[in-house]
Amino acid sequence: MDLIPVPSSAVRRPDEDFPLDATTTLTAPPGLADAERWLRTALSAATGLPFGPGRPGAGVELVQDDALAAEAYRIAVRPGHALIAAGGPAGALWGAQTLRQLLGPDAYRRSPLRRTGWVLPGADIADAPRFGWRGALLDVARHFLPKSDVLRFVDLLAAHKLNVLHLHLTDDQGWRVEIKRYPGLTERGAWRDRSMVGYRAGQRRDDRPHGGYYTQDDLREIVAYAAARGVTVVPEIDLPGHTQAAVAAYPELGNTDVADTAALGVWTDWGVSHNVLNASEDTLRFFEGVLEEVLELFPSEFIHLGGDECPKEQWKDSAAAQARIRELGLANEDELQSFVIRHFDRWLAERGRRLIGWDEILEGGLAPRAAVSSWRGFGGGMAAAEAGHDVVMCPEQHVYFDHRQADGPDEPIPVGFVRTLEDVYRFEPVPGQLDETAARHVIGTQANLWSEFMDSARDIDYRAFPRLVAFAEVAWSDLPTEPAERDYAGFERRLETHLKVLDALGVEYRPADGPHPWQRRPGVAGRPIEGPPPVR
Ligand code: ACM
Repeated sequence: MDLIPVPSSAVRRPDEDFPLDATTTLTAPPGLADAERWLRTALSAATGLPFGPGRPGAGVELVQDDALAAEAYRIAVRPGHALIAAGGPAGALWGAQTLRQLLGPDAYRRSPLRRTGWVLPGADIADAPRFGWRGALLDVARHFLPKSDVLRFVDLLAAHKLNVLHLHLTDDQGWRVEIKRYPGLTERGAWRDRSMVGYRAGQRRDDRPHGGYYTQDDLREIVAYAAARGVTVVPEIDLPGHTQAAVAAYPELGNTDVADTAALGVWTDWGVSHNVLNASEDTLRFFEGVLEEVLELFPSEFIHLGGDECPKEQWKDSAAAQARIRELGLANEDELQSFVIRHFDRWLAERGRRLIGWDEILEGGLAPRAAVSSWRGFGGGMAAAEAGHDVVMCPEQHVYFDHRQADGPDEPIPVGFVRTLEDVYRFEPVPGQLDETAARHVIGTQANLWSEFMDSARDIDYRAFPRLVAFAEVAWSDLPTEPAERDYAGFERRLETHLKVLDALGVEYRPADGPHPWQRRPGVAGRPIEGPPPVR
């Protein structure tokens, strides 16, 4: 049946096939309406069959089974009856995705190539995810991604049973979320004069203005669209660093005694800007105002506040920052950053939400309730998990999908380490050194798509796929935790079918033997890092 991600158990029953036709019905209880609606829309489009409403015990039927966990499901396909039993709405959506997969690659098309010959293979499947957080980060700050492409990406996540879309909405190079109270954030902060093309040492620019942002209605649409597919959108408002776009829009947010922030534009370089927020009460109030609107838009439990790569030079030089450090009784600039994060940790907790930040938020002391996205290797995540904090493992050495997929001159804008499809398949998110209690704090894993070198959905497809397919199996399935014991050859065999699924979906993945000619970027500088990635 070539299912990806591979389910916990799957037994084929060749004598029990269920041929579908125009009389095949689809039923579900009201609590599973999202899965019913999604499945009817997807199957009707692909097969041309109506899947009209029917009665329990026949056709395709979704039922709730309280004995199952919320994301777990079982499927039993028999002649005339395909039953999906789910622990809850999310499990029903994952079961519905598996049912579509059982029909083969043509079931992923949006118009029928044929109206006959649709057969659900007789089978018994039981399935549940390994991790509750199975994420992908889209960096829509470095390059804006049009809303339609974000919605398409949500569909691709859901098709792979990934359930978190981490939207990196703000950075030095652009602010992408409309904030009604501070219109300058998008009027000025969403646009830059030009962009770097390739790595900074190449010094190549396109001299074309770049920008864009999502209105609040766009984001409500994205969030609701994702939710109806089992995907939670976690917004990231990065602070106190990675904030030049905000400072360019509102110069008083910056360190005005050491930088002419009124003269700043949105940054046109890649890298980490030194123009960071000041830590004044006014700036905290400003971002509380931003976050009040963000909380209205995003119902997710977790709100990501970045906290990564905040250069401390301006705070070291700024008399105002030094006075703030003294006033607060802090030891140094790291503790000032920690003060900012703690402030918002408390502020979010008072509103029933939880802060998550990059592992730099450990420096200067981790805020009491904060969860950590461990990106600089495993170390930060391990320390946080051992201290009882929840952790999402996304080490750059393994699951930064902006990094190149192969060695050699044909990879477009080659940056970072070589991380092949097989490397990703053998990525183990939970370090063996963690004891059981700490390991339980690893709530999941995430692949990150930073977009300095991806300025379109086509580029994202190339870097994300098929690696995201392997990643989905790592995040969902119960693979051996020992990387060497994983059956990569078996995955490759199932991938042959799955590439046809990606073809049907119109995903421009990287071919196994290298990029198509139009996927290359000859002459655009990258920054490959030679040798195997360090183990950290
Ligand atoms: C990061 O890559 N700066 C989180």
